[in-house]
Amino acid sequence: MLTVKQIKNDEEVKVLIKTSEKQIDALAYTEHSVRHASIVSTWTGMILKETGQSAKLVRLGEIAGYLHDIGNSLARYDHAGSGAILVYNILKRLGMNYSDAAEIMMAIGNHDEINGVPVSVLSSALIIADKSDVHKSRVRHKVLDKNTNIHDRVNLAVNRSYVNVDKENLRIDTVIETDDTICSVADYFEIYHHRMIMCSKAAELMGYKYGLIINGTRLL
Ligand SMILES: [Fe+2]
Ligand SMILES: [Fe+2]
Repeated sequence: MLTVKQIKNDEEVKVLIKTSEKQIDALAYTEHSVRHASIVSTWTGMILKETGQSAKLVRLGEIAGYLHDIGNSLARYDHAGSGAILVYNILKRLGMNYSDAAEIMMAIGNHDEINGVPVSVLSSALIIADKSDVHKSRVRHKVLDKNTNIHDRVNLAVNRSYVNVDKENLRIDTVIETDDTICSVADYFEIYHHRMIMCSKAAELMGYKYGLIINGTRLL
């Protein structure tokens, strides 16, 4: 039974994550390293567990979360599609059965908001986990000046973000604590509205409502 621990220790995975980092660095995008992979892995597993999915799906979710951005090793463009195929082959090499490997492939292939769609419970959990990781530590150039783009400004403002599953009220919330002297809630909406729509559809597929709470105020 393949676990996320084995995936993390796999030499090919290590090389592809390092190569992804190199590419993301060259493009000056926000951090997509082991930190992001680990957080998305944990949160995908947590969402699946808290919404009552099987232990097996939780395990597959942790693996999908860790590997979801590995396509950045080829190119940022269509990294979801290229990553899905890379991951399918890695999982087969490591002995995963075709059907579980294909389930993870489909989730990874649909995680990007540009052309992805929540198509399964696993893909929905992955989408919400991925889109909820907004944090100042993901910004490379940490000095705020007139050249800081809106993506960096929004991330720089975020001191903490996490996902909360409220089983009683069937809600999955992204909870964000920001410094509103750095960016306004309007800035957040400007760059994240596509992501929020995607998260709403993802939660709906799981029978939940998606919510966004910023500095204690529910905005969705
Ligand atoms: Fe991605
Ligand atoms: Fe990601």
